[in-house]
Amino acid sequence: MDGYTTPEWGAYQELSLHRVMLLDRVRTDAYRAAIERGVRPGDVVLDIGAGTGILSILAARAGASTVYAVERTRIHEFAQDLVEDNELEARVRVIHSDIESVTLPEPVDVIVSEWMGGIGVDENLLAPVLQARDRWLKPGGRMIPARVAGWLAPAHDREQDDEMRFWASGHYGVDLGLVADCTTQEHLWNRNVAPADLLAEPQRMWDLDAHSLPLAQAEKDFTARLTFVTRRPGRFNGLAAWFDADLGGVRLTNAPDAPDTHWGRFVFPLDDTVEVDAGTRIETEHSCDPAGPGYTHHRWAVRIGDGNWQYHDTRGAVI
Ligand SMILES: C[S@@+](CC[C@H](N)C(=O)[O-])C[C@H]1O[C@@H](n2cnc3c(N)ncnc32)[C@H](O)[C@@H]1O
Repeated sequence: MDGYTTPEWGAYQELSLHRVMLLDRVRTDAYRAAIERGVRPGDVVLDIGAGTGILSILAARAGASTVYAVERTRIHEFAQDLVEDNELEARVRVIHSDIESVTLPEPVDVIVSEWMGGIGVDENLLAPVLQARDRWLKPGGRMIPARVAGWLAPAHDREQDDEMRFWASGHYGVDLGLVADCTTQEHLWNRNVAPADLLAEPQRMWDLDAHSLPLAQAEKDFTARLTFVTRRPGRFNGLAAWFDADLGGVRLTNAPDAPDTHWGRFVFPLDDTVEVDAGTRIETEHSCDPAGPGYTHHRWAVRIGDGNWQYHDTRGAVI
């Protein structure tokens, strides 16, 4: 096993995870609006990581003459049935394949893909999307999403405080301190961080243009070194992170001040919760490293004022 924190990407073959994404109306309505804007009658569309086929169906409804719906897991069988239930099998071709090894009969006008994890790049699907762009997108073709930025801010994650107290409490008569130790080396996902929980002005970690970003850059680590100054006193126990995507004139984000999505926010925890004053300098380094198909590792380091750096690494949860 790679570690406690290795995500089970095989979950994408199960309908249960796709049900969560379909139920996320903020996400799916944003894609629907973007597809209605970005797909013109007669376009040929490539849907990368088609899942249940929802985006392919929306592209066909928007007037695409042909949609190639490429999906690596067995959920492709469900996509085929859903396409047939919606009487679109003449225009939507479901292909069971990794996008990297697919051969299409023609170049495409539009590539649509929902490749974002909680901070955008963390599902390691961007590089395969850009590889497909370089192979299959016509010159001047359109990418949905067009841009995706990652954002970071020092924060107080209240749930984390509650959970840490629980792990330290000796519940069930068992020393569960190891859970707390491992938790500080994990990125915590789907956290309910609100704007009032942020201690400083958020800053952009990176801003990626899907039309022009070189594939080689997407295959490397995404790193950011940022310095924050707190705007108020408060409790500090993690770095909150999220993405902000431009789907081509339609915004989709899991930012703390935006409508809730199934992503929630990511939090990269500190060793402990600390009290900070207004005007405290917080230096951060964050890196999201491609690790394998479908997942990444994270490293983050934090220094408060003139204190020592503390280092965290999702590989640190491995024993
Ligand atoms: C976030 S889901 C999106 C599913 C669907 N497009 C939607 O919007 O509901 C990403 C999908 O990409 C698929 N996927 C990931 N890597 C892939 C690859 N290299 N080639 C083809 N499909 C891939 C996953 O199995 C998963 O179904």
